[in-house]
Amino acid sequence: MDKILVLDFGGQYDQLIARRIRAANVYAEIKPYNKIDCDKILAGGYKGIVFTGGPNSVYEQTSPRFHPCVLSLGIPILGICYGHQLLSFLAGGEIAPSESGSEYGKTELYVDPHPLFEGVPEKSVCWMSHTDEVKAPPEGFRVIAHTVNCSCAAVADDRHGFYGVQFHPEVTHTEYGNTILKNFLFKICACNADWQMDDVLESTVAKYRAELNDKKVLLALSGGVDSSVAAALLQRAVGENLVCVFVDHGLLRKGEGDLVEQTFAGKFGIRLIRVNAEERFLEKLKGVTDPERKRKIIGREFIRVFEKEAKELGQIDVLAQGTIYPDVIESGKGDSAVIKSHHNVGGLPKHMTFSEIAEPLRDLFKDEVRELGEKLGLPRELVWRQPFPGPGLGVRITGEITAEKLNMLREADAIFREELENCETAQRPNQYFAVLTDTKSVGVMGDGRTYGYVLALRAVSTDDFMTAEWTRLSYELLERVSSRITNEVKGVTRVVYDITSKPPATVEFE
Ligand code: XMP
Repeated sequence: MDKILVLDFGGQYDQLIARRIRAANVYAEIKPYNKIDCDKILAGGYKGIVFTGGPNSVYEQTSPRFHPCVLSLGIPILGICYGHQLLSFLAGGEIAPSESGSEYGKTELYVDPHPLFEGVPEKSVCWMSHTDEVKAPPEGFRVIAHTVNCSCAAVADDRHGFYGVQFHPEVTHTEYGNTILKNFLFKICACNADWQMDDVLESTVAKYRAELNDKKVLLALSGGVDSSVAAALLQRAVGENLVCVFVDHGLLRKGEGDLVEQTFAGKFGIRLIRVNAEERFLEKLKGVTDPERKRKIIGREFIRVFEKEAKELGQIDVLAQGTIYPDVIESGKGDSAVIKSHHNVGGLPKHMTFSEIAEPLRDLFKDEVRELGEKLGLPRELVWRQPFPGPGLGVRITGEITAEKLNMLREADAIFREELENCETAQRPNQYFAVLTDTKSVGVMGDGRTYGYVLALRAVSTDDFMTAEWTRLSYELLERVSSRITNEVKGVTRVVYDITSKPPATVEFE
């Protein structure tokens, strides 16, 4: 299988670059620039290298660099933004702040005829985000594109197969970005489009069938996309040797626990142990209002319940986990600021030791995991499930959590989701849910006064959940949802819509 190395210099679009390459059916691997050297690159057998963007200036001593040996490996290189400047810098070019200041946003790009730009019109729109630029390309390089403010928007050294683009071909705002990336992959690196999900499925099943032969495998199934796909995949590989433990903490959405059970125990015939632990969780959460304490309690109880079940199962050889590629990349990068302790229910403590860990999805991005899920025959509700926090509805009830409030929230949330799911998929927000606030308010129904909870609706549009915009839902839809909730859910007197983006707010209320 042909592979491209995405050398990560800290840019915000690194994962996007790898995903675009994989979408063109070429396998791409991301490595932080300081975790790989020229020997390893050679040993990796890569057909091409992409230098990613990054927030630095190459001429600063502390900025991320790479040993110039990378220019002598005989492997084509495409530098993007900072990567473009770094490539020119390593090859002896001159980089300096742009005279016209920063160039940011959609910009007209003028390209010269060149294989990298085959299929790209002479004038198109690209996405720029830079302060520095290549002032003088290195010897052997020539300029092949420009914008009004950037005379060196792309460079080429055809003899060595080195190319640099100041703009971002990986973002959708660059009209012909995909064409440019594909030209690099297929015309310059001569890659074969041999990364196909059918092959991934077959080879992963074969690999785990051989490796886990006769071993007992345990998986903590949450009903989330990753653990669900991992379960379906491993079931194909090891059949009855897979046991899934599904801890239903009672903080799931309406019908969710039953869907998990029907799918895995029913349709897939997987050995599934469902532990209905709502009472136990509610008991521990009694009187607790602090969000971080709630998260900790839910996480701790989850582990206790899971541990107890695992013990009762006797000898287990392998613990399977639904780790996916972004988790692997993130854990290799070090810490970023902790805003909330994103405890993923399913993350297990160190003292639970298993002789082996199986992570069948660790090379896959989320969209690839979903594609695999569809190929495995998982229901669409599970595969296309929107993100749902591990602590579940526990962080969507502000204030104390009670069984009564949970029921109210489940019903209201189901109505909101149902109404939104009647819309075209393309118009649907990336995440949408209801939150039961701790505020009570007066209402009027018939001739009587009511006094009940204020329920908030939240819907956001986002690419990565790091930032998010509140979604401009239509007034008609909001009106329908509000009227259904106040009519159908006893105890809710008022419905409000959250119009705060992230930042400054977070997606979840807690
Ligand atoms: P925030 O609220 O931090 O959410 O803007 C960003 C994304 O993360 C999800 N989220 C969580 N996921 N455990 C999780 O597994 C958590 O404790 C948690 N808190 C937030 C949230 O739903 C959104 O998709």
